[in-house]
Amino acid sequence: MAKKLRVGVMTGGGDCPGLNAVIRAVTKSLLIHHQAEVIGFMDGYLGLIERRIRPLTYSDVSGILTRGGTILGTNNRANPFSYYGRNGENVVPELVDYYNELGLDGIVAIGGDGTMSIGHGLQQAGINIVGVPKTIDNDLMHTERTFGFDTAVSVATEALDRLHTTAQSHHRVMILETMGRYAGWIALHAGVAGGADVILIPEFDYEIEEVARVCLEREEKGQRFTLIAIAEGAKPKGGKMAVREIVEGSTDPIRLGGISDVLRQDLEKLVTNEVRTSVLGYIQRGGAPTPFDRTLATAMGSYAAALAAEGKYGRMVAIQNNRLTTVDLKDVANQVRKVPNDSPLIAAAIAVGTSFGVSNFDVEFGAQGSPRSIM
Ligand code: F6P
Repeated sequence: MAKKLRVGVMTGGGDCPGLNAVIRAVTKSLLIHHQAEVIGFMDGYLGLIERRIRPLTYSDVSGILTRGGTILGTNNRANPFSYYGRNGENVVPELVDYYNELGLDGIVAIGGDGTMSIGHGLQQAGINIVGVPKTIDNDLMHTERTFGFDTAVSVATEALDRLHTTAQSHHRVMILETMGRYAGWIALHAGVAGGADVILIPEFDYEIEEVARVCLEREEKGQRFTLIAIAEGAKPKGGKMAVREIVEGSTDPIRLGGISDVLRQDLEKLVTNEVRTSVLGYIQRGGAPTPFDRTLATAMGSYAAALAAEGKYGRMVAIQNNRLTTVDLKDVANQVRKVPNDSPLIAAAIAVGTSFGVSNFDVEFGAQGSPRSIM
């Protein structure tokens, strides 16, 4: 009798809405169409290191499509190539032994760039990996979308809508700080959707005088409030990113946060209105995924299951030209996909009078005329 297909599933890095939807899609597809056995590793790569697994049955994954978080747990510090639990020792050979003992054909690793970078290394060490791109930041290379992003944008947009009304009542400058690490996708999309007057993203260092100019001009013209969306990775021209903390052992130990307060302090010296800040933080990562993220997660998860069943490993599921495809894990490892300055969404924002905090913005408006995705 042919050996049963046996596939592991794990979720690594920071959580985000849609993880459970992917776990469900991978598991159901493998159970229904390939009569496979599916096991889940607990807490990301830590589960492989500490040998903690659970079987995943049909009923285990029923009813989790809409649930936030991950039923498998996650961890953003457990790098088996340099394991913090053993003074930075490389424990990968032990993982390979465990993987072989379990008789696995491969592992579906759902995660961001840290998870994909480690996944690429594990693939080279003999553990078959299929990656599924997760992150609210939308910053994974070679995919136009990651699941979780749409939900984060919708939360940030609602926050801007709420700030809009209170800003208007008090004639204030309201600043919303979003997550996103070194890329400005969340602030850009939510900023456009929420009608922010100023959008500040890491891709363009902002000039405080330009931000103040927008606030003063609005006040002068009778629009007595200003809405600003700022990404946590943004920084002033000649200034530094705001680092919140350093997480030892993490693939990227720097945690950003606090730039909205730097902006507030600088702005208060230049404008007449009161300035207030709100830091959205982890609210962007929690709760139920949007319908778009549920759909994307289901499509990506079932695609990953098909790849595992066909023995196509060492690849990450990706969206390119709005179609599902795959890319080599090595092309995703250790990279960040930033907002390009010919982004049609930037051109659209500038067209409706939004400032990016840059006085001489050299944007390619021509991008608007050509058929390009605004994802
Ligand atoms: O990558 C997702 C993300 O939420 C970033 O937007 C943020 O900078 C980071 O994770 C926060 O990480 P942690 O959960 O370790 O604080």
